[in-house]
Amino acid sequence: MPILAENIERFLTPSKTFIETGTLWGDGIQAALDAGAERVWSIDSAPQAIKKAQERFAGMPSVRLICANSVAGLERLFRDPEARAQMGAPTIWLDAHGSHDSPVLEELTVIRNADLPTPNILIDDMRMMPWWGVEISTLMDSVRSVYNLYHIDYVDGCGQWPRDPGMYPKDIMVAYVERS
Ligand SMILES: C[S@@+](CC[C@H](N)C(=O)[O-])C[C@H]1O[C@@H](n2cnc3c(N)ncnc32)[C@H](O)[C@@H]1O
Repeated sequence: MPILAENIERFLTPSKTFIETGTLWGDGIQAALDAGAERVWSIDSAPQAIKKAQERFAGMPSVRLICANSVAGLERLFRDPEARAQMGAPTIWLDAHGSHDSPVLEELTVIRNADLPTPNILIDDMRMMPWWGVEISTLMDSVRSVYNLYHIDYVDGCGQWPRDPGMYPKDIMVAYVERS
């Protein structure tokens, strides 16, 4: 599902770097740009999603697309010294999933191991986690393993418009750091 630009804006870190897992049609990228993101990396394992996003954001060098499984894509991105130098403390939106599974715990392990300046992390589809076999307590431990002192909040998620115009109350978990 996408995220409202106002919710990205609220938690966008000063580096204005947005990293997304799960590109789909590029609505998350567009929301990040609308929120003021100056650099976006988005990862999707589906070549057709990446192709559509390449067309949609053609001529925008600030939007970079990675066709890969999200875990491998994040590992590759965080190993790239040039990307690391640009991203500072990024805002990371975890939204890669299929109908029956989510790589969110593995993604959080990659983020923890990357030893980034503390990122803000937004995780979609909290209502689906039990269905995907992800226990909320395990997810919370995993988030805390990235940074133990995160503030945790929840914001509303929205459906994929126009197919799903619905709103999903408190469906996005946000782990964030107060920054002056
Ligand atoms: C809910 S959609 C993403 C919606 C998008 N973030 C937005 O805001 O509009 C999920 C996407 O995750 C991708 N996906 C599923 N499993 C994945 C994985 N393991 N690694 C990378 N992408 C994955 C799917 O191809 C699909 O495009």
